[in-house]
Amino acid sequence: MANSKKRFFTHETLEKNVGLLIIFSILVVSFAGLVQIVPLFFQHYTTKVAPGVQPLQALQLIGRDVYIKEGCVGCHSQQIRTLQSEVSRYGPYSVAGEFVYDHPFLWGSKRTGPDLARVGGRYSDEWHRVHLRNPRDLVKESNMPGYYWLQHKDVSEENIQARMKTLRTLGVPYTDQQIEDAPAALKGKTEEDAVVAYLQSLGVGYMSAFREQQSSTGSN
Ligand code: HEC
Repeated sequence: MANSKKRFFTHETLEKNVGLLIIFSILVVSFAGLVQIVPLFFQHYTTKVAPGVQPLQALQLIGRDVYIKEGCVGCHSQQIRTLQSEVSRYGPYSVAGEFVYDHPFLWGSKRTGPDLARVGGRYSDEWHRVHLRNPRDLVKESNMPGYYWLQHKDVSEENIQARMKTLRTLGVPYTDQQIEDAPAALKGKTEEDAVVAYLQSLGVGYMSAFREQQSSTGSN
């Protein structure tokens, strides 16, 4: 009896019994996952919104949904890594607090095109319009598809209030006033206007807070 008990708890028993090995592997991986992931939910630097970051306005929010719908995330990331080469090219690296209002986040993992986390304000609205309609008019060797139909799709009738209310249940602090005013902000706008508004918002709030902080610590 003592013998069989002993055998049950040896490593050899686990290695020779696929079913047990699977169960124990799942237990170990689950426990390790809990230990690594759960504390992140309680750490302020991952859950508290970063300085300067604001919830997207109505038109920008529609633009974000068009960005998702058109699959831009398949070619563009929105996360600057902590590598010198990335920071030199794109700007300060991304921090978790910048994405607190993103549901779902659009970090992406494929960079056929450049990272867009700080593209807001880099070009004019007009540049984006020309680029979205036919990227090769501006960048000859570009392999980004043209999204010329966006300019013909009206967004006035989009269910923006329902989307904002849903986001509010997930913790995005939209006020009743903002939700009430939202449909008016979409009047006569197109999907192209919305995507441009969204692109122009990317990284802007955080960057201005970041620069302010840099200049105040620099002058000390
Ligand atoms: C097949 C891959 C692909 C897809 C899909 C794609 N892009 Fe691009 N994008 C690129 C490439 C490559 C470049 C770099 C060349 C250029 O500027 O056109 C680029 C450049 C850009 C730039 C300029 C970035 C900079 O810093 O110069 C913006 C803005 C942009 N894309 C937005 C979008 C949006 C919005 C969508 C979806 C509507 C989209 N892209 C879909 C490949 C893609």
